[in-house]
Amino acid sequence: MTAKDPAGIAVEDLSEAQAHAELARLAAAIKHHDILYYQQSQPEISDADYDALKRRNAAIEVRFPGLVRADSPSHRIGAAPAAGFAKVRHAVPMLSLDNAFDEADVRDFFDSVRRFIKELKDDPSMPIEAVAEPKIDGLSASLRYEDGLFVQGATRGDGTEGEDITANLLTLDDIPKRLAGAGWPEVLEVRGEVYMSRSDFLALNKRQEERGEKIFANPRNAASGSLRQLDPAITAARPLRFFSYSWGEISAPIDGSHWHVLQRFKDWGFKVNPLARLCGSVEDVLALYGEVASQRATLDYDIDGVVYKLNRLDWQTRMGASSRAPRWAVAHKFPAEQAETMLESIGIQVGRTGALTPVAHLKPVTVGGVVVARATLHNEDEIRRKNLRVGDTVVIQRAGDVIPQVIGVVLERRPSSSKEYKFPETCPCDLRTPVLREPGEAVTRCTGELACPYQQVRRLMHFVSRDAFDIEGLGGKHVEAFWEDGLLKTPADIFRLPGKESQIAEREGWGPQSAQKLMAAIEERRTIGLDRFIYALGIRQVGQSTARLLARNYGDLKTWHAAMVEATAERAAHPDARKPQDVGEAYEDLCSIEGIGMSMADDITAFFGETHNLDVLSDLEEELEVTSLAAVATGSPVAGRTVVFTGTLEAMTRSEAKARAEALGAKVSGSVSSKTDYVVAGPGAGSKAKKAQELGLAILTEQEWLELIGQG
Ligand code: IVH
Repeated sequence: MTAKDPAGIAVEDLSEAQAHAELARLAAAIKHHDILYYQQSQPEISDADYDALKRRNAAIEVRFPGLVRADSPSHRIGAAPAAGFAKVRHAVPMLSLDNAFDEADVRDFFDSVRRFIKELKDDPSMPIEAVAEPKIDGLSASLRYEDGLFVQGATRGDGTEGEDITANLLTLDDIPKRLAGAGWPEVLEVRGEVYMSRSDFLALNKRQEERGEKIFANPRNAASGSLRQLDPAITAARPLRFFSYSWGEISAPIDGSHWHVLQRFKDWGFKVNPLARLCGSVEDVLALYGEVASQRATLDYDIDGVVYKLNRLDWQTRMGASSRAPRWAVAHKFPAEQAETMLESIGIQVGRTGALTPVAHLKPVTVGGVVVARATLHNEDEIRRKNLRVGDTVVIQRAGDVIPQVIGVVLERRPSSSKEYKFPETCPCDLRTPVLREPGEAVTRCTGELACPYQQVRRLMHFVSRDAFDIEGLGGKHVEAFWEDGLLKTPADIFRLPGKESQIAEREGWGPQSAQKLMAAIEERRTIGLDRFIYALGIRQVGQSTARLLARNYGDLKTWHAAMVEATAERAAHPDARKPQDVGEAYEDLCSIEGIGMSMADDITAFFGETHNLDVLSDLEEELEVTSLAAVATGSPVAGRTVVFTGTLEAMTRSEAKARAEALGAKVSGSVSSKTDYVVAGPGAGSKAKKAQELGLAILTEQEWLELIGQG
């Protein structure tokens, strides 16, 4: 064991055990000095001595990346969620919002409400009231109160699972620890946005600069970094605020309308944005949008649009939500901010599916408070269409969290020497594999497929990424290094790393402790939900929400796997079929899932058509336990059943009937087949009802259907 105090040893001479002890000592010391400085304004040491501690800490972290502590003093903003926060499952998911980018989109939203709610459809003069309020550019949080006491606060996370940041939220003055007034439900989750004011942000950055600390790009990043601190004392020293705007789980409904609930929030001690208004029509919300836009520059906090929400809570319930966003609300975004800069060079990135994406390397420029140095150029045509050349002055645009885009070129400033960009003919990897652009396709792909090192590494990176297996301590850099040394070749190799723990411990920057930590993180992921599993496979076009749809529809891995193999065989037998029903039953089933079309089904079957992928799958199946997604609305009589609506419905619109059926776990399909369980036929039902009769299926009237689902 180390007898010597590591504090005096040069960084390059530290053993792993000494480094471990030294990082712990430095973390404690820096935390101590932070509190003295930020909270008590009574520093004990000079700024230069403080900086020396931070530098030593950083130098050790660079030499021993595997030892970086969850509460590292150099904890970076915008990094993956810090280890150390417990997970919280949201009983009611924290959804995102659909966007409207112009007046027409907003009118579309109001029209969609009118088409959905039968009373509105039948009576065009009936008004649609909406609450309109600024969209705060911060981070959403959910605050849980039990018997009026603040018991838990969580981040949004992926919407279903967030992080427990109770201790940090307790430090916010805007968050009542005990509800004021009366009449709150026993269980109440208030949701809203945590943000930092512009003036507080500027002051914080000034302090950071004086201390040689990280400067935050904008108030949102500063708020996010502050909220993610593992030490609540640091959060306490950072002024954060909170606006409430919606709610999650409640033990009893709150009476009245959305607007009314916001007034109750105020009674109970929350802040509600002072610009929020109850509007009586689309014209009213658009007027408020104009008003808010004109005040935007003078507000002391960043906003990026105005949110409109239906005021009637019964209509909110009836409209429900997609897996991503409620149908009863929309965010009307402000136009994106633009700037001009120089296109210094064009690089190529190879993705996990082999797609070559050109990337603009720009002279760094600040757009909407963020420094932008890179922007995606999408593909070859995009470069030609925009007529871009290296050396050009280009206009770039950034909106919200989306990747910055190059909008166009300022031709008058084109240097005379510039030449047209030539898209590479080979993959930039060492193999220099030829690339191929299929006729009619926009994407150029490396033809190396599984041999392409970029693709292999990218696939593995995707596999361990945050929304997939989310393996703590196995970042992109590690994947790359392990891949290069042959420790990792396929995803299942990750789960065989525990047999190679000593080999990892001997690597540069690693040691027994860090290796052990990684093994524990890997073991923790040996059990995984089917949705994450499917997403992790990296099938073309199958993003998180499609993966969730597949997991929900097929229930468990075995069923899904078998069905996809069947659909693949059917597609192989009918490669030219243009309609799902001409391919085969399994394929048709796949396409009958709302949100999955033939193009996606073809990518999924193409994946299952590759022997290599099947090997990867069965290899993984041996290593893992894949759990089914908790069935939606279990106990509902129609969960997992397929229903087709045809003819005119009388009690509600077709959209509402569909949404209700889906909320009960049923699949709504547009076509009748032997897989259909119920056909709900209203007056005027034609060929579909006839087909159902021929197939001997259950045909229900609308009333019978409503009785079946207990809503009659
Ligand atoms: S309502 C179910 N209102 O915007 C409806 N969201 O892009 C929940 N946001 O995740 C959202 N200001 O973090 C709502 N006044 C506001 C908001 C707001 C900011 C955020 C929120 C949400 C994101 C969606």
